[in-house]
Amino acid sequence: MRLTILGGGGFRLPLVYAALLRDRSEGRITRVVLHDVDAGRLAAVARVLADQAAGVADAPEVTVTTDLDLALRGADFVFSAIRVGGLAGRAADESVALAEGVLGQETVGAGGIAYGLRTVPVAEDIARRTARIAPDAWVVNFTNPAGLVTEAMARHLGDRVIGICDSPVGLGRRVARVLGVDPERAWFDYAGLNHLGWLRGVRVAGRDELPRLLADPGLLDSFEEGRLFGAQWLRSLGAIPNEYLHYYYFNRETVHAYRTAERTRGAFLHDQQARFYAEMERPETSALAAWDRTRAEREATYMAHNREAAGAGERDASDLESGGYEQVALALMRAIAHDRRTTLILNVRNRGALAALDAEAVVEVPCLVDANGAHPVAVSPLPGHATGLVCAVKAVEREVLAAAASGSRARAVAAFALHPLVDSVTVARRLVEAYTAAHPGLSYLR
Ligand code: G6P
Ligand code: MN
Repeated sequence: MRLTILGGGGFRLPLVYAALLRDRSEGRITRVVLHDVDAGRLAAVARVLADQAAGVADAPEVTVTTDLDLALRGADFVFSAIRVGGLAGRAADESVALAEGVLGQETVGAGGIAYGLRTVPVAEDIARRTARIAPDAWVVNFTNPAGLVTEAMARHLGDRVIGICDSPVGLGRRVARVLGVDPERAWFDYAGLNHLGWLRGVRVAGRDELPRLLADPGLLDSFEEGRLFGAQWLRSLGAIPNEYLHYYYFNRETVHAYRTAERTRGAFLHDQQARFYAEMERPETSALAAWDRTRAEREATYMAHNREAAGAGERDASDLESGGYEQVALALMRAIAHDRRTTLILNVRNRGALAALDAEAVVEVPCLVDANGAHPVAVSPLPGHATGLVCAVKAVEREVLAAAASGSRARAVAAFALHPLVDSVTVARRLVEAYTAAHPGLSYLR
C-alpha cells in the first residue's frame, strides 16, 4: 500500500509516521511518498523519520519529491496536509483581524476566512489533479479550515475525499475519562461543522451518561472543556461544545486576551519552527530529539491564551493527550483498506445527516466507514441556537467558495461581513483591503 502525503515537510509528519511504524497489520502502508514545495523542509522531516525508523523491522520506505504529479501517481491513499502561505501567513491572518478588533485565529472568524480564501484555489488544483492521476485513491484532508477545504475538494473528488480533525475525538475521550466509561463502548452524539460542533449525548448500553456529567460540578471542573466554558453555561446548553466554540461564546474576552498578548499563536509557532528547521540544517543535530523537544513545547502551549482568558488555568497531562490526527487518519485508512466497519467522526458531504443543510454541504458527524468510504449517520436535529450558527457559518463558507471560483472581491467582502464574529460591513471591506495587501496568494481577488 502506498501513501502519498502532501505537505510532507510539515512539522506534524513524524506523528503520522510513528503511527505507521506501530501498525503491524496485514496490508499496512509499506511506501510513503512525501511531497512538499519546500525541499529543505522535506529533507529536515526525512531526517526525523529516518531516526524513527532506525531499528524497526519493515519500516515503511520513505521517498521525497517536489513534483506533485509524480507524488500522486500510483497512490492508494493521499493525505493532504498543506499550509498555504506557511506560518507567516497564519500570523498575518491573526494579526490583521486583531488590528480591526475582531477575532484573529487560525480557523475561526476573519482569520479563518482569509486562510480559506488563500487555500481553496490550491486545494481545488490538488483535487483536480488527483482525480486525473490517481482516480481510485482515497484522499484524507487534514488541511484547515478542514470543513471548507474538504467541501472545495469534494467538488472534484466527490465522496473520495474525507476531512479529519482531532478535536471531536479528543473531546469524546476526555468526557469518557471523567465519566469513567470506555470510549470504545460509547456512542458519541456529536454533530455540527468542523470546529463548530456539540456533544449532545454519550450513550453506553442504552443509557445517556452526559446528564450525570452536567449535574456534577466536580466532574465538570476536571477536564478542559468543563473549565473553559464553566459549569453554568454548559448546563444552560445541555451539551459540551467543541473547544473552538469558546471563540463564539466568549468572543469579547478572547479578542481582548489575543490583542493584549505579546504575539499571536501563529507568530509563536513561526519563530519556533524557524528555529527547528534551522537546527535541522546542522548535521550534528540529533533530529528526533530536536523534533520531540519542539513538539512538547508546542503541545504545552496549545490554546494557552484561550485558557487564560477563561481563567481555566493549566492543562492537565490527561488533557494533553489529544485525539491525535494520526490515529484518526490511520483508523480511517484501515477501515477502508480492510473493509472493517468502524464509526468515526469525520467531515463528509451531508447527504441528509443534518436536516438544516443541503446534501452537498460538508458537515462533521459520526460516520460508518467501510471499503465504500464514509457514510454519515443521520443524527438528532441540532437545537435552534446551534442550527443558526451552523447555517450562518456554512453560508460564509459558500461565499468563500464563490469568491475563489469567480475571483470576485464583492463575494470575499460578503464572506467576512456575513460571519457572526464580524460586526460591520465596513470592517469586512477593510479586512479584504488589508488581507489582499498582506497575502500575495489573494491577488486573484478583483
Ligand atoms: C487542533 C485542531 C487543528 C488545529 C490545531 C492548532 O489540533 O484540531 O485543526 O490546526 O489544533 O494547533 P496549533 O498548535 O497549531 O495552534
Ligand atoms: Mn481541527
